[in-house]
Amino acid sequence: MVLADYNDKNYDYTRYWDGRDYENASEYIALKSLLPSDYDESKKVIDVGGGFGRLLPIFKQRFGSIYIFDYSKKLLETAEENASKLGLKINTVNGDVNEISSLVSERFDFVTMIRVSHHLDDLEKVILQIKKILNKDGVFILEVANKIHFKSLISNIVKGNFGYFKKDSVSVATKDVTFLNHHPKRVEEILKKCGFKIEKKLSVSNFRHQFFKKYIPIKILLFLEKNMQKIGACVYFGPSIFYKVVNEE
Ligand SMILES: C[S@@+](CC[C@H](N)C(=O)[O-])C[C@H]1O[C@@H](n2cnc3c(N)ncnc32)[C@H](O)[C@@H]1O
Repeated sequence: MVLADYNDKNYDYTRYWDGRDYENASEYIALKSLLPSDYDESKKVIDVGGGFGRLLPIFKQRFGSIYIFDYSKKLLETAEENASKLGLKINTVNGDVNEISSLVSERFDFVTMIRVSHHLDDLEKVILQIKKILNKDGVFILEVANKIHFKSLISNIVKGNFGYFKKDSVSVATKDVTFLNHHPKRVEEILKKCGFKIEKKLSVSNFRHQFFKKYIPIKILLFLEKNMQKIGACVYFGPSIFYKVVNEE
């Protein structure tokens, strides 16, 4: 399996977001609805696989203490630069999330892991690691790339490929990178098995299609997106599912 090397000097992940204002804003909408709305100086968050700190503006408005954990030193350096542009002091920790509980000594009120699970083939192992760094009743916001989103559902039904709907993960090869899309029902089973209570789920980037992005003004698209996130989650409509789960143990 070939994974994106975020340390590669020839790969600039920040440029990935060029032309993806709709997806970025959709994720902001989701996170704002899953995270508390008020600032609390005493609350501590860690963004696992947080990259260059794309989500720092959201954390700044809510948490007194912000950590970013990532295996890419290059992205962590950019995250520190971005934090200082926002007038923020953050803590960065370099390492592999598969070992996060031995690399981070603190415990957190909130853990976020957005756009990372598609790089993880043993999601259960990682979720158990994350549980160890969460306070009791702490909140974990997990995003997964959705194997059974509407487009793939239709295309596999048309092809008569019913084996596709098994509750496993699937590899989606792009030009130079491999991604894993996870079956959301399997993800939910894992979360429950690991002692998390699922409080809320959202379907995100529901209108991620060149046609919509080209012909529908972004304001209208985001209005539709906002109204679709909750209802779309009932049928796992979008390419990305966000979970808000609570550590019950
Ligand atoms: C697609 S980027 C997402 C970055 C950020 N969460 C965001 O949404 O903008 C994936 C990130 O996960 C990090 N990552 C991937 N596998 C990792 C691992 N095993 N341990 C720690 N970080 C990892 C990469 O370095 C990269 O920053």
